[in-house]
Amino acid sequence: MLKDKNIVLGITGSIAAYKIFELIRLLKNAGANILPLMTGNSTYFITPLSIEIACGNKVLIDMFEVPMAHIDLAKNADLFIVAPATANFINKYASGIADDLLTTVSLSFRGPFIIAPAMNWRMYDSPQVQKNIEYLKSIGILFVEPEEGYLACGEEGKGRLATADKIFEAVVSALIEKDLKEEHMLITAGPTRQYIDPIRFITNKSSGKMGYALAKVAKRRGAKVTLISGPTNLTIPNVDKSIFIETTQEMLQAVMDNINDVTTVIMAAAPLDFEPKKIFNKKLEKNKINSISLKLCPDILTEIAKNKKRPFTVGFAAEWGFNIERAKKKLQEKNLNMIVLNDISGENSAMSLDRNQIMMIYKRGKIFYQDKTPLLSKEEIAYLILSKIKELKVGK
Ligand SMILES: Cc1cc2nc3c(=O)[nH]c(=O)nc-3n(C[C@H](O)[C@H](O)[C@H](O)COP(=O)(O)O)c2cc1C
Repeated sequence: MLKDKNIVLGITGSIAAYKIFELIRLLKNAGANILPLMTGNSTYFITPLSIEIACGNKVLIDMFEVPMAHIDLAKNADLFIVAPATANFINKYASGIADDLLTTVSLSFRGPFIIAPAMNWRMYDSPQVQKNIEYLKSIGILFVEPEEGYLACGEEGKGRLATADKIFEAVVSALIEKDLKEEHMLITAGPTRQYIDPIRFITNKSSGKMGYALAKVAKRRGAKVTLISGPTNLTIPNVDKSIFIETTQEMLQAVMDNINDVTTVIMAAAPLDFEPKKIFNKKLEKNKINSISLKLCPDILTEIAKNKKRPFTVGFAAEWGFNIERAKKKLQEKNLNMIVLNDISGENSAMSLDRNQIMMIYKRGKIFYQDKTPLLSKEEIAYLILSKIKELKVGK
């Protein structure tokens, strides 16, 4: 995602400086070349040696050590990030002060600039800092807001450095092309539960990772995203609207309530397709039952297909092996624009792992096409699915 991107990372004198190693790991894993700059004061909190080893590049601190670094770094970088950013840095940057290497390079940089503040809540809340943040936002500087919670000083309030995930997401979305900004996507994710009694239910192994990856990548690429999710253990991605449901019926209701506002529906969820015929309203005693009768749940894609003005609709098929004929049949019967075929057999099963290999099946005129991907991360798969949707829509 960040291959060949040169990212200047400025680190300032905040107690949160030690948290920066997680962000460095995420940036490096995504392929970024990180050029670290530290203020003199930040070296009281973490050592330049650790940063140098983590980034794999020399740390610059002193303005006069490499005489033209302040111009060369600014000219060659794709993005600038200061994390953690002290009150001191924010105030100096807003005033155009350039009295050390970091503030000097910052001032000469032209391009996406991200600041992730971290400080005591009183400092963050001060009129000076707030006025300067407002000013910097007004000239296009991006902020990843600090979070509320316990602060190193023992107080509680807003000032904790945002999580590495959030800062990473801001970096990626600042650099990625916003080619889906005309889209409003409704994405479903995760399993559903069908209750037997108030505390027992049937479910499946779906983790929600594929749907969440689609929501995350669609958002990065500028789409408005509504996420409808079954129960998962995942962190909610930064979407425009999220709706949490438990049963297949609730998922169907949520889809129908939102379908008229969207341009595309991606049904990446694995809603249960059968449920107990009878739901007991009290905990069932174990010796009072020896079998459970099942009936079919409503089929969400069939319900969407009944809607004459339905949006561009992508279904998912979980099959034992790449059963192309069954997927084609489902594409036809459910009137889908595309179907994503997942193989849930074997050790690379699509369910619950971080990686996946899929086949995208669609029709042009009367001819079926099928594109098989390599085994990739679910975010990479999400990227390919979204690009195919875009391509098919342009060709419509
Ligand atoms: C233990 C300690 C922790 C500090 N933590 C923060 C902090 O989290 N945020 C902040 O804005 N300033 C913090 N400061 C104050 C800054 O280090 C100070 O304002 C310094 O001038 C910042 O320099 P720099 O912006 O050049 O790195 C802290 C100071 C000390 C002694």
